[in-house]
Amino acid sequence: DYPRWPSLARESILNVPMDLRSIRLSIDGKVIDYSGDIDSVIITGMGGSGVVGDIINDLCLFWDCRVPIIVSKNMRLPRRLSRPLVIAISYSGNTAETIMSANEALARGYPVIGITTGGRLSTALSAKGVPVILTPKASAPRYGLPALLYPALIILERFSVVSVTNELESGISGIENALKHVDDAVNLARQLVNSVPVVWVTESRRGVGIRFKNDLNENAKYYSVVSVVPEGAHNDIAAVITKQNGLKHVAIMGPNDYEGRYEEVLIDVISSFGAKPIIVKLEGKMPLELEMYGATYLGITTLALAELLGVEPVSTEPIDRLKNLLN
Ligand code: PA5
Repeated sequence: DYPRWPSLARESILNVPMDLRSIRLSIDGKVIDYSGDIDSVIITGMGGSGVVGDIINDLCLFWDCRVPIIVSKNMRLPRRLSRPLVIAISYSGNTAETIMSANEALARGYPVIGITTGGRLSTALSAKGVPVILTPKASAPRYGLPALLYPALIILERFSVVSVTNELESGISGIENALKHVDDAVNLARQLVNSVPVVWVTESRRGVGIRFKNDLNENAKYYSVVSVVPEGAHNDIAAVITKQNGLKHVAIMGPNDYEGRYEEVLIDVISSFGAKPIIVKLEGKMPLELEMYGATYLGITTLALAELLGVEPVSTEPIDRLKNLLN
Protein backbone atom coordinates (compact mmCIF):
# COMPACT_ATOMS: atom_id res chain seq x y z
CA ASP A 1 0.00 0.00 0.00
CA TYR A 2 2.81 2.47 0.74
CA PRO A 3 3.51 3.43 -2.91
CA ARG A 4 -0.23 4.19 -3.17
CA TRP A 5 -0.18 6.59 -0.23
CA PRO A 6 0.32 9.79 -2.27
CA SER A 7 -2.69 8.95 -4.46
CA LEU A 8 -4.73 7.76 -1.45
CA ALA A 9 -4.13 11.14 0.19
CA ARG A 10 -5.14 13.08 -2.92
CA GLU A 11 -8.21 10.93 -3.67
CA SER A 12 -9.54 10.95 -0.13
CA ILE A 13 -9.92 14.72 0.11
CA LEU A 14 -12.17 14.85 -2.95
CA ASN A 15 -14.94 13.25 -0.90
CA VAL A 16 -15.13 15.96 1.77
CA PRO A 17 -18.34 17.93 1.12
CA MET A 18 -18.02 21.70 0.69
CA ASP A 19 -21.19 22.46 2.63
CA LEU A 20 -20.35 20.81 5.98
CA ARG A 21 -21.04 24.01 7.86
CA SER A 22 -24.54 24.45 6.51
CA ILE A 23 -25.79 21.19 8.03
CA ARG A 24 -28.52 21.42 10.65
CA LEU A 25 -29.98 18.27 12.17
CA SER A 26 -32.65 17.43 14.64
CA ILE A 27 -31.88 14.21 16.50
CA ASP A 28 -34.12 13.03 19.34
CA GLY A 29 -35.42 16.54 19.81
CA LYS A 30 -31.92 18.11 19.93
CA VAL A 31 -30.93 20.55 17.20
CA ILE A 32 -27.34 20.12 16.03
CA ASP A 33 -26.14 23.13 14.07
CA TYR A 34 -22.84 22.70 12.24
CA SER A 35 -22.56 26.42 11.54
CA GLY A 36 -22.08 27.32 15.21
CA ASP A 37 -18.66 28.18 16.61
CA ILE A 38 -16.65 25.34 18.15
CA ASP A 39 -14.24 25.56 21.08
CA SER A 40 -12.45 22.19 20.66
CA VAL A 41 -12.14 19.23 18.32
CA ILE A 42 -12.44 15.68 19.63
CA ILE A 43 -10.90 13.07 17.35
CA THR A 44 -12.21 9.68 18.36
CA GLY A 45 -10.99 6.35 16.97
CA MET A 46 -8.89 3.31 17.80
CA GLY A 47 -5.59 1.89 16.56
CA GLY A 48 -4.74 2.71 12.95
CA SER A 49 -7.70 5.11 12.81
CA GLY A 50 -7.11 6.66 16.24
CA VAL A 51 -3.50 7.53 15.43
CA VAL A 52 -4.87 10.25 13.14
CA GLY A 53 -5.75 12.15 16.34
CA ASP A 54 -2.21 11.79 17.67
CA ILE A 55 -0.72 13.04 14.41
CA ILE A 56 -3.08 16.03 14.23
CA ASN A 57 -2.29 16.82 17.85
CA ASP A 58 1.42 16.90 16.94
CA LEU A 59 0.75 19.13 13.93
CA CYS A 60 -1.29 21.57 15.97
CA LEU A 61 1.70 22.17 18.24
CA PHE A 62 3.40 23.71 15.18
CA TRP A 63 0.43 25.08 13.28
CA ASP A 64 -1.10 27.10 16.08
CA CYS A 65 -4.57 25.59 15.69
CA ARG A 66 -7.37 27.88 16.89
CA VAL A 67 -8.89 25.36 19.35
CA PRO A 68 -7.48 22.43 21.35
CA ILE A 69 -7.44 18.96 19.80
CA ILE A 70 -8.63 16.25 22.18
CA VAL A 71 -7.57 12.72 21.26
CA SER A 72 -10.08 10.17 22.52
CA LYS A 73 -9.43 6.43 22.26
CA ASN A 74 -12.35 5.20 24.26
CA MET A 75 -16.02 4.28 24.03
CA ARG A 76 -16.84 7.28 26.24
CA LEU A 77 -16.11 10.90 25.43
CA PRO A 78 -14.39 13.30 27.81
CA ARG A 79 -16.94 15.26 29.84
CA ARG A 80 -17.37 18.98 30.59
CA LEU A 81 -16.95 20.14 27.03
CA SER A 82 -19.27 22.82 25.73
CA ARG A 83 -19.00 23.24 21.96
CA PRO A 84 -16.74 20.55 20.45
CA LEU A 85 -16.72 19.24 16.91
CA VAL A 86 -16.37 15.44 16.96
CA ILE A 87 -14.53 13.63 14.16
CA ALA A 88 -15.21 9.89 14.49
CA ILE A 89 -12.71 7.83 12.51
CA SER A 90 -13.01 4.10 11.90
CA TYR A 91 -11.48 2.61 8.78
CA SER A 92 -13.79 -0.43 8.86
CA GLY A 93 -16.71 1.40 10.42
CA ASN A 94 -17.23 -1.62 12.65
CA THR A 95 -15.26 -0.65 15.75
CA ALA A 96 -17.58 -0.70 18.76
CA GLU A 97 -15.68 1.93 20.75
CA THR A 98 -15.83 4.48 17.91
CA ILE A 99 -19.50 3.83 17.14
CA MET A 100 -20.39 4.21 20.84
CA SER A 101 -18.46 7.47 21.21
CA ALA A 102 -20.03 8.90 18.04
CA ASN A 103 -23.48 8.02 19.40
CA GLU A 104 -22.65 9.59 22.74
CA ALA A 105 -21.55 12.78 20.95
CA LEU A 106 -24.86 12.97 19.07
CA ALA A 107 -26.82 12.32 22.27
CA ARG A 108 -25.02 15.30 23.81
CA GLY A 109 -25.92 17.45 20.78
CA TYR A 110 -22.39 17.82 19.38
CA PRO A 111 -21.81 18.06 15.62
CA VAL A 112 -20.23 14.78 14.44
CA ILE A 113 -18.50 13.92 11.17
CA GLY A 114 -17.59 10.30 10.34
CA ILE A 115 -14.59 9.18 8.30
CA THR A 116 -14.76 5.53 7.26
CA THR A 117 -14.80 3.09 4.36
CA GLY A 118 -18.34 2.00 5.31
CA GLY A 119 -19.57 -0.47 7.94
CA ARG A 120 -22.00 0.13 10.78
CA LEU A 121 -20.63 3.61 11.56
CA SER A 122 -21.51 4.78 8.07
CA THR A 123 -24.99 3.21 8.18
CA ALA A 124 -25.82 4.52 11.65
CA LEU A 125 -24.60 8.08 11.04
CA SER A 126 -26.04 8.40 7.52
CA ALA A 127 -29.46 7.24 8.75
CA LYS A 128 -29.51 10.29 11.05
CA GLY A 129 -28.29 12.68 8.34
CA VAL A 130 -24.84 12.99 9.96
CA PRO A 131 -22.12 13.65 7.34
CA VAL A 132 -19.92 10.64 6.56
CA ILE A 133 -16.81 10.91 4.43
CA LEU A 134 -16.32 7.64 2.59
CA THR A 135 -12.66 7.07 2.05
CA PRO A 136 -10.75 4.71 -0.30
CA LYS A 137 -9.80 1.21 0.88
CA ALA A 138 -6.37 -0.27 1.66
CA SER A 139 -5.23 -3.76 2.74
CA ALA A 140 -5.96 -3.10 6.44
CA PRO A 141 -6.89 0.00 8.48
CA ARG A 142 -3.32 1.07 9.29
CA TYR A 143 -2.31 0.92 5.62
CA GLY A 144 -4.97 3.51 4.81
CA LEU A 145 -3.48 6.23 7.03
CA PRO A 146 -3.42 9.09 4.47
CA ALA A 147 -6.99 8.29 3.42
CA LEU A 148 -8.10 8.87 7.03
CA LEU A 149 -5.76 11.74 7.92
CA TYR A 150 -6.20 13.97 4.88
CA PRO A 151 -10.01 14.27 5.07
CA ALA A 152 -9.66 15.08 8.79
CA LEU A 153 -7.26 17.91 7.92
CA ILE A 154 -9.70 19.31 5.37
CA ILE A 155 -12.47 19.20 7.99
CA LEU A 156 -10.28 21.29 10.30
CA GLU A 157 -9.92 23.84 7.53
CA ARG A 158 -13.66 23.92 6.83
CA PHE A 159 -14.23 24.67 10.54
CA SER A 160 -11.54 27.40 10.49
CA VAL A 161 -9.39 25.55 13.02
CA VAL A 162 -6.31 25.89 10.83
CA SER A 163 -5.51 26.52 7.19
CA VAL A 164 -3.99 23.36 5.67
CA THR A 165 -4.19 23.92 1.92
CA ASN A 166 -0.54 24.95 1.60
CA GLU A 167 0.63 22.09 3.82
CA LEU A 168 -0.95 19.04 2.17
CA GLU A 169 1.60 18.51 -0.61
CA SER A 170 4.46 18.60 1.92
CA GLY A 171 3.03 15.46 3.54
CA ILE A 172 3.06 13.74 0.16
CA SER A 173 6.70 14.79 -0.31
CA GLY A 174 7.45 13.20 3.07
CA ILE A 175 5.89 9.91 1.91
CA GLU A 176 7.74 10.01 -1.41
CA ASN A 177 11.04 10.76 0.29
CA ALA A 178 10.59 7.85 2.73
CA LEU A 179 9.86 5.51 -0.19
CA LYS A 180 13.39 6.24 -1.42
CA HIS A 181 14.85 4.91 1.84
CA VAL A 182 13.57 1.35 1.81
CA ASP A 183 17.10 -0.08 2.13
CA ASP A 184 17.71 1.98 5.28
CA ALA A 185 14.38 0.80 6.67
CA VAL A 186 15.37 -2.83 6.06
CA ASN A 187 18.67 -2.17 7.79
CA LEU A 188 16.87 -0.69 10.80
CA ALA A 189 14.60 -3.74 10.91
CA ARG A 190 17.66 -6.03 11.03
CA GLN A 191 18.93 -4.19 14.09
CA LEU A 192 15.64 -4.75 15.90
CA VAL A 193 15.63 -8.55 15.67
CA ASN A 194 15.78 -10.23 19.10
CA SER A 195 14.96 -7.14 21.11
CA VAL A 196 12.17 -5.18 22.73
CA PRO A 197 12.33 -1.79 20.99
CA VAL A 198 11.98 1.26 23.24
CA VAL A 199 10.91 4.16 21.04
CA TRP A 200 12.05 7.52 22.43
CA VAL A 201 10.19 10.47 21.03
CA THR A 202 9.44 14.05 22.09
CA GLU A 203 5.90 15.28 22.84
CA SER A 204 5.60 16.99 19.47
CA ARG A 205 6.34 13.72 17.62
CA ARG A 206 4.16 11.57 19.85
CA GLY A 207 2.08 10.48 16.84
CA VAL A 208 5.15 9.15 15.02
CA GLY A 209 6.27 7.23 18.10
CA ILE A 210 2.85 5.71 18.75
CA ARG A 211 2.42 4.83 15.10
CA PHE A 212 5.79 3.03 15.05
CA LYS A 213 4.95 1.08 18.21
CA ASN A 214 1.52 0.15 16.83
CA ASP A 215 3.01 -0.96 13.51
CA LEU A 216 5.62 -3.06 15.33
CA ASN A 217 2.78 -4.69 17.28
CA GLU A 218 0.42 -5.25 14.36
CA ASN A 219 2.69 -5.80 11.35
CA ALA A 220 5.61 -7.60 13.00
CA LYS A 221 3.62 -9.00 15.98
CA TYR A 222 6.43 -7.50 18.06
CA TYR A 223 6.24 -6.08 21.55
CA SER A 224 7.47 -2.51 21.93
CA VAL A 225 7.11 0.50 24.22
CA VAL A 226 7.08 4.23 23.55
CA SER A 227 8.71 6.67 25.93
CA VAL A 228 7.53 10.23 25.35
CA VAL A 229 9.94 12.83 26.70
CA PRO A 230 10.27 15.02 28.69
CA GLU A 231 8.07 12.78 30.90
CA GLY A 232 9.92 9.57 29.99
CA ALA A 233 13.17 11.26 31.02
CA HIS A 234 11.79 11.28 34.56
CA ASN A 235 10.87 7.60 34.83
CA ASP A 236 11.54 5.25 31.84
CA ILE A 237 15.13 6.47 31.77
CA ALA A 238 15.77 4.89 35.17
CA ALA A 239 15.08 1.42 33.72
CA VAL A 240 17.72 1.77 31.01
CA ILE A 241 20.60 0.74 33.28
CA THR A 242 19.37 -2.83 33.76
CA LYS A 243 21.99 -5.01 32.10
CA GLN A 244 20.86 -7.49 29.44
CA ASN A 245 17.25 -6.40 29.59
CA GLY A 246 16.79 -7.09 25.88
CA LEU A 247 15.86 -3.49 25.17
CA LYS A 248 16.88 -1.85 21.91
CA HIS A 249 16.61 1.94 22.04
CA VAL A 250 15.39 3.83 18.99
CA ALA A 251 15.44 7.64 19.24
CA ILE A 252 13.26 9.46 16.72
CA MET A 253 14.83 12.86 16.11
CA GLY A 254 13.10 15.90 14.66
CA PRO A 255 14.86 19.09 13.59
CA ASN A 256 17.48 20.66 15.77
CA ASP A 257 15.14 22.85 17.83
CA TYR A 258 14.91 22.87 21.62
CA GLU A 259 13.27 19.44 21.59
CA GLY A 260 16.00 18.17 19.27
CA ARG A 261 18.62 19.34 21.74
CA TYR A 262 16.66 17.79 24.61
CA GLU A 263 16.78 14.46 22.82
CA GLU A 264 20.52 14.80 22.23
CA VAL A 265 21.02 15.19 25.97
CA LEU A 266 18.77 12.20 26.58
CA ILE A 267 20.77 10.11 24.10
CA ASP A 268 24.03 11.12 25.82
CA VAL A 269 22.65 10.10 29.19
CA ILE A 270 21.23 6.72 28.17
CA SER A 271 24.42 5.97 26.22
CA SER A 272 26.50 6.71 29.30
CA PHE A 273 24.46 4.01 31.08
CA GLY A 274 25.27 1.44 28.43
CA ALA A 275 22.37 1.81 25.96
CA LYS A 276 23.36 2.01 22.30
CA PRO A 277 20.49 3.97 20.79
CA ILE A 278 19.73 3.80 17.09
CA ILE A 279 19.00 7.29 15.80
CA VAL A 280 16.20 7.78 13.25
CA LYS A 281 16.32 11.28 11.74
CA LEU A 282 13.00 12.50 10.43
CA GLU A 283 13.66 14.16 7.07
CA GLY A 284 11.90 17.29 5.84
CA LYS A 285 11.09 20.81 6.94
CA MET A 286 7.32 21.14 7.24
CA PRO A 287 5.46 19.54 10.19
CA LEU A 288 3.23 17.30 8.04
CA GLU A 289 6.19 16.31 5.87
CA LEU A 290 8.15 15.14 8.94
CA GLU A 291 5.19 13.17 10.34
CA MET A 292 4.45 11.46 7.03
CA TYR A 293 8.11 10.71 6.47
CA GLY A 294 8.23 9.07 9.90
CA ALA A 295 4.98 7.12 9.49
CA THR A 296 6.05 5.80 6.09
CA TYR A 297 9.69 5.03 6.84
CA LEU A 298 8.98 3.36 10.17
CA GLY A 299 5.96 1.52 8.78
CA ILE A 300 8.11 0.01 6.05
CA THR A 301 10.65 -0.91 8.75
CA THR A 302 7.99 -2.96 10.53
CA LEU A 303 7.04 -4.75 7.31
CA ALA A 304 10.71 -5.59 6.76
CA LEU A 305 10.90 -6.86 10.34
CA ALA A 306 7.81 -9.03 9.73
CA GLU A 307 9.54 -10.52 6.72
CA LEU A 308 12.76 -11.16 8.66
CA LEU A 309 10.72 -12.88 11.39
CA GLY A 310 8.65 -14.87 8.91
CA VAL A 311 5.46 -13.25 10.20
CA GLU A 312 2.36 -12.48 8.11
CA PRO A 313 1.93 -8.68 8.48
CA VAL A 314 -1.67 -7.95 7.46
CA SER A 315 -3.81 -10.15 9.69
CA THR A 316 -4.25 -9.34 13.39
CA GLU A 317 -6.32 -12.25 14.71
CA PRO A 318 -6.50 -11.25 18.41
CA ILE A 319 -7.77 -7.79 17.44
CA ASP A 320 -10.37 -9.32 15.11
CA ARG A 321 -11.55 -11.74 17.80
CA LEU A 322 -11.96 -8.93 20.32
CA LYS A 323 -13.84 -6.78 17.81
CA ASN A 324 -16.18 -9.63 16.88
CA LEU A 325 -16.99 -10.29 20.52
CA LEU A 326 -17.70 -6.62 21.13
CA ASN A 327 -20.01 -6.29 18.12
O1 PA5 B 1 -4.67 -0.98 11.98
C1 PA5 B 1 -5.44 -1.82 12.43
O2 PA5 B 1 -5.75 -2.83 11.81
C2 PA5 B 1 -6.09 -1.60 13.79
O3 PA5 B 1 -5.27 -0.85 14.63
C3 PA5 B 1 -7.45 -0.91 13.60
O4 PA5 B 1 -7.25 0.38 13.09
C4 PA5 B 1 -8.23 -0.85 14.92
O5 PA5 B 1 -8.53 -2.14 15.35
C5 PA5 B 1 -9.52 -0.07 14.76
O6 PA5 B 1 -10.23 -0.51 13.64
P1 PA5 B 1 -10.84 0.52 12.61
O7 PA5 B 1 -9.66 1.34 12.14
O8 PA5 B 1 -11.44 -0.28 11.53
O9 PA5 B 1 -11.81 1.32 13.39
